[in-house]
Amino acid sequence: MNDTSAYQPYAEAKWGLMNHWYPALFSAELAEDGGAGAPVVGVQIAGVPIVLRRVDGVAYALRDECLHRGVKLSLQPTCLTRSTLTCWYHGFTYDLADGRLSAIVVSPEDPLIGQVQLQSYPVVERNGLVFVFVGDADFGSPPPLESDLPPMVDAASRHWSPHLADDGAIVLGIRRRVASNWRLGCENGFDPGHIFIHRNTTLVRAQGWNMPLGLRPVGSAAVSWLEADDGPNGVGNEFGSDAYLPVAEHPELGLHSLGDATPAGSRTSMWMPCCLHVENFPQRGLAQFEFYVPVDDQTHESTGS
Ligand code: FES
Ligand SMILES: [Fe+2]
Repeated sequence: MNDTSAYQPYAEAKWGLMNHWYPALFSAELAEDGGAGAPVVGVQIAGVPIVLRRVDGVAYALRDECLHRGVKLSLQPTCLTRSTLTCWYHGFTYDLADGRLSAIVVSPEDPLIGQVQLQSYPVVERNGLVFVFVGDADFGSPPPLESDLPPMVDAASRHWSPHLADDGAIVLGIRRRVASNWRLGCENGFDPGHIFIHRNTTLVRAQGWNMPLGLRPVGSAAVSWLEADDGPNGVGNEFGSDAYLPVAEHPELGLHSLGDATPAGSRTSMWMPCCLHVENFPQRGLAQFEFYVPVDDQTHESTGS
């Protein structure tokens, strides 16, 4: 990487990148108010504690840190009205929509009421995923969610595969806590060298894929930069091109690729702020979106769909 000035923000982003959309939860994890399941859910993204609550189908997100003594509201959810969230400690009560302090249980006439505001975060729910814009308090209006998702591919392209934001798309997945910095997740997902680990997986065996032991980049066309002023911004691997040589065997180590079928041509790309996109994987007509959501500097959530 020669352009150190462009690389620097990533190198310094131990805790993740602010002012981006992140998937916080799968929709099924955030029950309708009063329904079965947790009435509110607390998460942490890029070091920011966030509490989510769903009322009448709408998901709201506030900073999970009371303005009074800083406790997490999600530790002991206290939902006294349908439009507020109350701190369980001394009863500071915040408007769900904008975080404004609307009441204090222990001080009903307090002059602070209406004067201070807990930060609220924009939420967009798309096909079973709850995205939160984790922005600085003074950021202003967020960009559209699409600026932080892999772009949709034209239906005529050989790389077409369904997109999680497609109308009516069915998104299934899991969210797992991983004890590593988020950038290790991103770099592993994008690194073609890691396909060696897939060769004996049930998925590959069941498909009968002739998965190479590795894919060796040959030439600068192996990686392409995909940039736009208003996003999405990413970097891509063109596996099915001349820019990669498959490694079929390693005679000295007695290794060779398995199976007799050819895998559907897939392509991987990595998108700001943390999404790996694998087209036509695990089979043609499917797509994998894996988000390496930073929690803190040593932990991330791998949210794969
Ligand atoms: S800490 Fe929340 S009201 Fe006191
Ligand atoms: Fe992989």
